Amino acid sequence: MNRRPRRNRSSKAIRDITRETLVTVNDFVFPLFLLEGQNQKSEVQSMPGILRLSLDLMLKEIEECLKLGIQSFDVFPVVEEHYKDKMATKSYDPNFFYLIALNTIKKEFPEAHIITDVAMDPYSSDGHDGIVKNGKILNDETLEVLGQMTLAQAATGIDMIGPSDMMDGRVGYLREVLDENGFQDVGIMSYTAKYASAFYGPFRDALDSAPKFGDKKTYQMDPANRKEAIIEGELDFLEGADVLMVKPALTYLDIISDLKNEFDLPIAAYNVSGEYAMIKAAGERGWLDADRVRDESLLSIKRAGADIILTYFAKEFALAHK
Ligand code: PBG
Repeated sequence: MNRRPRRNRSSKAIRDITRETLVTVNDFVFPLFLLEGQNQKSEVQSMPGILRLSLDLMLKEIEECLKLGIQSFDVFPVVEEHYKDKMATKSYDPNFFYLIALNTIKKEFPEAHIITDVAMDPYSSDGHDGIVKNGKILNDETLEVLGQMTLAQAATGIDMIGPSDMMDGRVGYLREVLDENGFQDVGIMSYTAKYASAFYGPFRDALDSAPKFGDKKTYQMDPANRKEAIIEGELDFLEGADVLMVKPALTYLDIISDLKNEFDLPIAAYNVSGEYAMIKAAGERGWLDADRVRDESLLSIKRAGADIILTYFAKEFALAHK
């Protein structure tokens, strides 16, 4: 045998110097759930260890995370039912707590990279990512709402928007709206290949944002489709996205790999709520070593080609590998 692959596995030292992939806190974006009010916190039932926090507590959380080396955060608002309406008008009301909080976060931590969520669903009484008319989700009319939302968020000083709605043409439309209003430095992390997935369940619990009727299959992608992700990637690339995202991550590693090979842009992967919940639940039952499964999962996402990983594990990983 002139090839014995085991030679490169024979000691910790040789394994360490030959390792191909390394996950570090620099890879992470930490998603955070914002509550209105003061001194408010509540754990997401289906996501043990993940808290919805009011601004004062979130500032402390961000400060702790920055000390651990986590530099990027994606903030999602928990919107009470009485604020929701068909047109998601609260999403661009400059006095709404989410927008005020973003402004405060950027003032307190200008060095933190803050990403926002651009989609109607947290604010929509229909629980959909677009305007609903006669049971249909309208595309082009929704873009106008997304545009207003984007401008209101950009005005708070945030660094990057994350359009998560899967309407056609939104990246180009939002790029134009940003540029026309002097926000050419605000980036776009596009949810490029976002699948109609059952893995978002715990997130919808966290925000109480589940669709009131039907599902999201007329705008989110069919989990069976791989080539279609390239079409979405081409459009987002041409429309000016700065980062292309695949979501979920673990059951879509092939898609992450495809986009990485096809496009010379940073690729993000969203290790979503259901992926977090599965590992936590099995860990709690003693069926899996949750810490090792966490690290192996994150490693696989990176190995598949993700440059950026949005993960609820960000802080616990950072603490475990200090
Ligand atoms: C909605 C949105 C969703 C997630 C992020 N933004 C859920 C959905 O599309 O229904 C899911 C994130 C997660 O599951 O962790 N615009």
